[in-house]
Amino acid sequence: MLSNQADGSKKRKSLHGHWSSRMAFVLAVTGSAVGLGNVWKFPYVAGENGGGAFVLVYLACVILVGMPVMMSEILIGRRGRRNPVATMKLLGEEEGSSRHWQWIGLAGVIAGILILSFYSVVAGWTLAYVLKSLTGAFAGATGESVAAQFNLFVGDWRWVTLCHTVFMIVTIFVVARGVERGLEQAVRFMVPALLGLMVILLGYSIASGSFGAGLEFMFTPDFSKLSWDSALDAMGQAFFTLSIGMGAIMAYGAYLPEETSISGASAAVVVADTSIAILAGLIIFPLVFANALDPAGGPGLVFQTLPLALSQMPAGAFFSTLFFVLLAFAAWTSAIGLMEPAVAWIVEHFNRTRAQAAVMVGGLIWFLGLGSVLSFNVLSEFTFLQGTIYNNIDYLTSNVMLPLGGLFIAVFAGWVMCRNSTADELGGAGTVYRFWRFLTRFVAPIGILFVFLKAVGLLPDLS
Ligand code: TRP
Repeated sequence: MLSNQADGSKKRKSLHGHWSSRMAFVLAVTGSAVGLGNVWKFPYVAGENGGGAFVLVYLACVILVGMPVMMSEILIGRRGRRNPVATMKLLGEEEGSSRHWQWIGLAGVIAGILILSFYSVVAGWTLAYVLKSLTGAFAGATGESVAAQFNLFVGDWRWVTLCHTVFMIVTIFVVARGVERGLEQAVRFMVPALLGLMVILLGYSIASGSFGAGLEFMFTPDFSKLSWDSALDAMGQAFFTLSIGMGAIMAYGAYLPEETSISGASAAVVVADTSIAILAGLIIFPLVFANALDPAGGPGLVFQTLPLALSQMPAGAFFSTLFFVLLAFAAWTSAIGLMEPAVAWIVEHFNRTRAQAAVMVGGLIWFLGLGSVLSFNVLSEFTFLQGTIYNNIDYLTSNVMLPLGGLFIAVFAGWVMCRNSTADELGGAGTVYRFWRFLTRFVAPIGILFVFLKAVGLLPDLS
């Protein structure tokens, strides 16, 4: 029986085609992981949470929770070979549990839509900053002028809406054309280029005179400053930056050839993604301290520190343009991944073409995005629960939906799927497998639940 199931899953093919090679898959997942989460969000969330201790919790979450959940998502996706909703339903039944697991898939589809609604707005900022850099808007900038420029820009909802619209149109365009064409080429060029440019910027940051202060801020943990809320922020950031907890990696796993090593591919992605985030922090914080900016400056942090630093560099306008172009590309390859679960689901479930599905999903996301556009201007005073509309969507997705999605995915892969199925996907029951299974069954679910319940105040203090 079990071996029949295994044989059956081998014959399954994805409707949407397959990656042309192992490298193509690693590039696509890296492209989805590396994005605004690394360069824009990580520094600002780390800054708001006091640095050091936050960074340490974030790293622990990436390794102990992120890595096993990513492997689980890929293996579930490859075994089911369908969109995340259908895959969870199919495997839920096949593994003798329940078709209700499909709701986890659907929650992921919704999370992707919600995340992209604000992601696209920030990606739009990067497009505007390409233009600003090109026209030399940052020449002779000071700490005050870059802050004023940022506030002026996000304060004008018409500009921000325009940029958000442009970004959604190009995203819909690529998603409509299918997973492989275009995406592979974009990532192959973008990730190395971004990395190269960031290394150059790191050199500048080291020379800024406050590299020590930046290092200290990032790596000296002071746990007395760390609340459970910050720990949840760190965990949410780990999920967000790795693109896990919402079925996106599951959707990509559905197109993965049978022979590829899931643990090897995951490790490559995690290392690349984490290095870029740490590099971004190492660039930004020294500049923050050298220019007496506020590390807890919020979502505008990168948009203020980098133009400032770059304006003082030789060929600054050129490097600044290049930087925001690369960041826009990084955001673009992530945006594609955020739409993929919803689009794959609509194509399979409602029998639409990819183009129709992309337009439908993209249109909805564009509309929801207006809420985030307005959070920085017209509706900035309209706050509830966590703050503005943007703050609430961000909290709901990163701190609630992704960790809980990851929790269910870990429980599914670790407890619902039988040993034979998971060992089959992970290439046999060796040491790596045992390690993965231990993290997936115990460490990840208990860790996620504990931090989550602590942060929302549902676990009493024992001390
Ligand atoms: N990881 C992306 C970033 O760091 C954002 C993201 C979250 C994402 N979930 C995703 C991207 C799912 C693609 C698919 O910018």
